[in-house]
Amino acid sequence: MAINKVKGTYDVCPNESYLWQRLEEEIRALMKLYNIKEMRTPIMEYSEVFHRQSELSDMVTKETYNFDDRGERRLTLRPEGTAGIIRAYVENKLYASGELEKVYYIGPNFRYERPQKGRYRQFYQFGVEAIGAIDPALDAELIILAYDFIKRLGLKGVRVRINSLGDEDSRQQYHHALKTHFDPHMETLCDDCKIRIDKNPLRILDCKIDQNHPALLNAPTPQDYLNTDSRHYFTSILEHLHMAGINYEIANRLVRGLDYYSHTVFEIEADIEGFGAQNVLGGGGRYQKLVKELGGPDLGGIGFAFGMERLLMAIDAENVDFAKEPILEAFILTFQPDYRSLATKILFQLRQARISCDMNYTQKSFKSQLKQAIKQQAKYLIIIGEDEYKRGVVGVKNTQTEVQDEVVVAKVPKYLKERLGK
Ligand code: HAM
Repeated sequence: MAINKVKGTYDVCPNESYLWQRLEEEIRALMKLYNIKEMRTPIMEYSEVFHRQSELSDMVTKETYNFDDRGERRLTLRPEGTAGIIRAYVENKLYASGELEKVYYIGPNFRYERPQKGRYRQFYQFGVEAIGAIDPALDAELIILAYDFIKRLGLKGVRVRINSLGDEDSRQQYHHALKTHFDPHMETLCDDCKIRIDKNPLRILDCKIDQNHPALLNAPTPQDYLNTDSRHYFTSILEHLHMAGINYEIANRLVRGLDYYSHTVFEIEADIEGFGAQNVLGGGGRYQKLVKELGGPDLGGIGFAFGMERLLMAIDAENVDFAKEPILEAFILTFQPDYRSLATKILFQLRQARISCDMNYTQKSFKSQLKQAIKQQAKYLIIIGEDEYKRGVVGVKNTQTEVQDEVVVAKVPKYLKERLGK
């Protein structure tokens, strides 16, 4: 019996992997431009990297894949990139230089969510973290970077939404206000929210069960509780964004679904038909306590992550002229199976000349070889017929112009190099 893939996962088949490669190329080129280096951290971490006392989000408390390894160590498959990056930042003492550390990452994450279009149990993120500084210019830089990225992908119906949760003091005030607001509604809130009122009232705001409860809809917003310093910090970021000509919206109710945020939070949303609830392409924000919580110095950071499946969905939906399936430069067709040793030789010579090429390996008829070449969109056909084989030549046909020349075997690489402009 055939075994199916795990629920909420997907395969990238050979006919679509070029889209992923193209997206990754775009990311790496952009990261060069912003002078940001890649960091690769493990997919599994000790559970306490994610399961911290201060982190009560659904994502961490309800959706992580946890398991014991054979040495009885409690491990977790990462549900997001930030905590692992900070663990590695601390462990490798990247703070020792005293400089800001800017890194990016691309990789899979795992969340036990209810799968639907744009929401998977294994999904890829591209993320950036800038660790070791707090400065409105840095917050603005990260938002600009996220915006720039989306523009480069050619996506149009996209909005940047931004808000501030304020510093620790403002956050405390806000938590207190939320608690006071929700207390009288205790009885009508879901069981989880009943507990959240005392433990972490912020999380009531993104409760999936109570999302339409009137008390959520008229809850106080973080903006109402920003102290003077936090307000200045936020205003300064907005000024930077304005100067850079970035269009943004202030989203009073945006708090994001993770507990490590303070000050700036932001999301990039796509206004794309058929996207439904999964229209958030990416999001991020500032975290001031995470480095310390994971055993490092008292340093803050800011970052964001995009869901790569959602990016590709948005690209597809907007019909962006983003990537073309790679085209083969030459395909060899043989009239007789016996000629395939000559074909093997030519393939080797062509590849040494950096010309992409292939032939058929299932000994199909000439007609089906031709079909395969057309499917691969080969630019040139190299035809080894009986008469040509005897005379040490091949036919080389340009599939666009249909012009065919006879070329001496040894000269095929040179002939094609000239015509392909290599
Ligand atoms: P997040 O909002 O949980 O933030 O995830 C970022 C993005 O990952 C989402 O906007 C979405 O596009 C994608 N995503 C999340 N869950 C799924 C899923 N189940 N299936 C498909 N895509 C998904 C974070 O993960 C933070 N670490 C971002 C950050 C970095 N904050 C500071 N630095």
